[in-house]
Amino acid sequence: MHLSIIMDGNGRWAKAKGLNRTEGHKKGAEVVKDITTFCANNDKINYLSLYAFSTENWKRPKYEVDFLMKLLDNWLKKELDTYLENEVRFEVIGDISKFSDKLRKRINITKEKTKHFTKLTQVLALNYGSKDEITRAVKKLCNEKKEITEENINRYLDTSIHNIPDVDLLIRTSGEIRVSNFLLWQIAYAEMFFTNTLWPNFTTKELEEIIKNFEKRERRYGGI
Ligand code: FPP
Repeated sequence: MHLSIIMDGNGRWAKAKGLNRTEGHKKGAEVVKDITTFCANNDKINYLSLYAFSTENWKRPKYEVDFLMKLLDNWLKKELDTYLENEVRFEVIGDISKFSDKLRKRINITKEKTKHFTKLTQVLALNYGSKDEITRAVKKLCNEKKEITEENINRYLDTSIHNIPDVDLLIRTSGEIRVSNFLLWQIAYAEMFFTNTLWPNFTTKELEEIIKNFEKRERRYGGI
């Protein structure tokens, strides 16, 4: 199954502790590691997509954007071993052409070194926005003079290009009940869970509870 998470609440977690927002992102990155390792070792989960940086996040103060870019670069360098040990394939969705050469190189190295793994595909959404993804897909179809059909649009989405199926379960942390331009097309039939827990406090135990609850839900895909 494909589990998707909108990791929200890093800033509020830090503020409540009297810390800078960047400390929240640092702690958030540690949670990413725990959750990824858990999913890699859970037979039911094959895809884990994480909203790490949206097309709207550029609006944040420059120091926070710079910090997130640096954190990502360091994280990919440091956590390559985690990917290798847990047999996790690393993938990216979103338009990373705006990222620095250094970061793009790091992303490509991580993808290349992990591309043969099949236990889990971890998908980071980077400079990702669903409307942007759909627009890019339709533009490509027009440029190639292909027919605009549901099937063709689907085929040109970033997820399909990287063989990532639609979402089964979407979780958002921090109490906000919205999807914020994340995988709008791919969540058409996803089950959704919203928890008040701030992302830095999210645990594998809570994830286990949510999965148990998800398994009890009856999914009808529009049928009866
Ligand atoms: C939302 O919290 C979080 C983000 C916009 C960034 C997500 C980044 C991480 C979890 C850490 C880095 C990830 C990796 C993979 C290294 P917020 O800042 O919107 O929190 P707030 O709503 O409380 O202000």
